[in-house]
Amino acid sequence: MQDPTTQLSIAFSKAIVAAFGEEYAAIDPLIKPSGNPKFGDYQANVAMSLAKRVGDNPRNVAAKIVDAIDTGDWGEKLEIAGPGFINVHLKTDYLISQLAAVATDEHLGVDQASGGKVVVDYSGPNVAKEMHVGHLRSTVIGDAIARVLAFEGYNVIRQNHLGDWGTQFGMLIENLIDAGAGADTHISDLKTFYQDAKKRFDDEPEFKDRARKRVVALQGGDEKTLELWGKLIDESKRHFNHAYQLLGVLLTDDDIRAESFYNDKLPEVITALEDAGKLKESQGAKVVYPEGFKDEEGNPFPMIVCKSDGGFLYATTDLAALRYRMNDLKADRIVYVTDSRQSQHFAMVFQTVNQCHWRPDNVQLDHVAFGTVLGPDRKPFKTRSGDTVKLIDLMEEAVNRAAGVIAEKTSDLSEDDQKNVARVVGIGALKYADLSSDRIKDYVFDWDRMLALEGNTAPYLINAYVRIQSIFRKGEIDVATVDASKIQLGEDAEKTLALKLLQFGSAVQSVASSLEPHRLCTYLYELASGFHSFYEKCPVLKDGVEPDIKDSRLALSALVARTLKEGLNLLGIDVVDRM
Ligand code: ARG
Repeated sequence: MQDPTTQLSIAFSKAIVAAFGEEYAAIDPLIKPSGNPKFGDYQANVAMSLAKRVGDNPRNVAAKIVDAIDTGDWGEKLEIAGPGFINVHLKTDYLISQLAAVATDEHLGVDQASGGKVVVDYSGPNVAKEMHVGHLRSTVIGDAIARVLAFEGYNVIRQNHLGDWGTQFGMLIENLIDAGAGADTHISDLKTFYQDAKKRFDDEPEFKDRARKRVVALQGGDEKTLELWGKLIDESKRHFNHAYQLLGVLLTDDDIRAESFYNDKLPEVITALEDAGKLKESQGAKVVYPEGFKDEEGNPFPMIVCKSDGGFLYATTDLAALRYRMNDLKADRIVYVTDSRQSQHFAMVFQTVNQCHWRPDNVQLDHVAFGTVLGPDRKPFKTRSGDTVKLIDLMEEAVNRAAGVIAEKTSDLSEDDQKNVARVVGIGALKYADLSSDRIKDYVFDWDRMLALEGNTAPYLINAYVRIQSIFRKGEIDVATVDASKIQLGEDAEKTLALKLLQFGSAVQSVASSLEPHRLCTYLYELASGFHSFYEKCPVLKDGVEPDIKDSRLALSALVARTLKEGLNLLGIDVVDRM
């Protein structure tokens, strides 16, 4: 369905062509919600830029557009303001019919893509290493992107590129043997296990020697070694799945395509690079020179794909993975979610694929980069003792702190319900704080801010949802009985809220194209604030409210609740009915 932005854009584009000619067909009319009912509901800002091109003054240009426009069933009136803004006042009947259409649409007005396969590569923790706060970002941002794209109708293939291969497995396997690896050995603490192996590798020459031999055995496919390696993978997956489950992300074992999956495809990569004429030698190693990359002295900057000892690298595996995703999975778009320190890596991998002509024209590659989580001192977030923060500990603390916040609020919830609310609010707050900040920037981790019941936070949004549920509970009204076609928009606050509701589609769409989940957060925050203003000014259940007004306000509230719930769900955040 067409939300007002789309509808207006089409009408304005037609008017521009009618007034100035076909050559202006591609001009963006720059329609945006006005944000202030005084200036109409929407505003078109095109006249100022168009004026230069047609050699007229902006107000004349605006007048010509207004003359040429067909306001169809949507336009109440158009006004020219200031230097040449066109303020659009929409017809109330139009808004009401749009709301009714959104309310009966299972996708709440989000346009559905006509097919298209998208691979989303996210999380990608490393085997036998504890997940830390850095993995929070990739996991949470990637999951939100996967959910949004699926909601838009794309066929989303999640890929968890686990780091499960490399020379460190020599020391890890030897450490496992010394710990008395049996079928029922469990590594209770991955962090200590890894640190222990590392320390022994550095301190004990005999251990180091065994570790080295073990790497050779692993690469040679020795059965006993592979079995031990598999044990490490299983133990790690147990840890990862526990974290994923607490965090409430979609990833399952089926989404794992670990580095080792590509092992037998690596020699092919080298051959294919050679066939493309792009494989070069540099100091005994095999390298590619992706165009446009220079070192400090301005010389071509190589990406190593095979070391002089024959070993392959992270980049080689990524080239193999990319080929697999294009050729076997037949992806139309491939999205990688990692921190921005890997930006150069992906830029070089993408460039290599381009210059080898391996990428079909229709395939789009995106690196979704993100910044670092900082502590209060604005340095990378660490524990008091200077250690990395375990993701599991972070989640536990979030839930405990949320329990404290809620305890101040609730009275009549059972202990089990309170626990559930603490979990939903705590985990929601942790994820939302991450998602709501512009991902490319670093952000400061701040418990008090993320758990605040006011502001752009998960608790605020969940609370808005809870408040609406309580209206229905108090009024003893079944949400299923409301009828959005009965909505009336007599008050400004009602109209403002209605306009916000109609923008859900474009908010979701903008996340899908920019891959920036914070845009949806901003939208949901504005929707919840709009609801609070509406609720202050427009009583719903109060004595004296006419029955048809009451029904209208209930229908508006119900649509807000549904939109909040769906929007939060797209961010991977749950809601509760009471708190
Ligand atoms: N294991 C990597 C890391 O911890 C992330 C993997 C990202 N995905 C990829 N295809 N390289 O940094």
